[in-house]
Amino acid sequence: MKNNITDPLLNVINLTVTLCNKTTNHQHQLLHNLSFTLNRNQCLAVIGESGSGKTIMSKAIIGLCPQEFNLSGEVIFQHQNLLTLPKNDARWSQIRGRKIAMIPQNSLNAFNPLLSIGTQIEETLKQHLILSKSQLLAQINHVLEKVALPDYSHLAKKYPHEISGGMLQRITIALAFILKPDIIIADEPTSSIDWLTKKEVLAFFKQLLNDHQTALLLITHDFAEANELSDHLIVLKQGKIVETGATKQILSHPQHTYTQNLLNARNKLDTFFLKHRQSDKAQREPAC
Ligand SMILES: Nc1ncnc2c1ncn2[C@@H]1O[C@H](COP(=O)(O)OP(=O)(O)O)[C@@H](O)[C@H]1O
Ligand SMILES: [Mg+2]
Repeated sequence: MKNNITDPLLNVINLTVTLCNKTTNHQHQLLHNLSFTLNRNQCLAVIGESGSGKTIMSKAIIGLCPQEFNLSGEVIFQHQNLLTLPKNDARWSQIRGRKIAMIPQNSLNAFNPLLSIGTQIEETLKQHLILSKSQLLAQINHVLEKVALPDYSHLAKKYPHEISGGMLQRITIALAFILKPDIIIADEPTSSIDWLTKKEVLAFFKQLLNDHQTALLLITHDFAEANELSDHLIVLKQGKIVETGATKQILSHPQHTYTQNLLNARNKLDTFFLKHRQSDKAQREPAC
């Protein structure tokens, strides 16, 4: 059955995740009745402090939650409730990576230091694509050019420690687009790179999303990142949605105390770093 163009791409209804402690039989609820939709071309950010349930939410959506977690509710994608698909169901191979691509948290750690970049990229893609070597290289070159990495033959020979974190992150982001997924779920995609590199990576990411018309579910704790990439925002606190709406509206007029506190903390941190940067600069500049 084909999706109607006006249907949401992803419809999450009352998603609840519970963890049961087998010894004490105590039920610990990690996500509480989350409901939201992701539409075509939409960039929806989920923001919350560490431990608020962002990663569990993204894993629940694509069937990667650990076995001991109990999931209820619905995750509707292409008229199918993904929560009803068993973990080892063959249909996952058609969905994960192909239709819903994931940039996992700490994805830079996923690079094997002992293998060249080329080996790692090509081995990963061969799991999804049945292409000749030249077709595969053409696809890789095509996406890497979009993140300003045009010389794949040179890059392929390098090992992860020989290139910068920003370059590795650009590779990870570009590869998520290679199978032209409908949705990309990016879990803290720039958390392990510095501020300046982050700006550059986000600009490439934005351009790729625009070119491919891909919807994004962005998981972040960073308001600047959410502001740069998303049009809508969900604020998650201890596994519950406390505020949702247009990103610009929430950032300029946060309604919930939790959102206000998160934004205040962020502003205080910015002021602190700005002050330190200015005093460092003043110390470095010789007095006239
Ligand atoms: N494998 C796990 N076993 C038990 N508890 C977990 C596991 N993974 C995450 N949690 C708990 O679930 C909550 C949400 O975690 P997580 O989704 O990783 O938060 P976030 O991504 O927002 O930092 C936390 O309280 C965390 O301790
Ligand atoms: Mg996380």
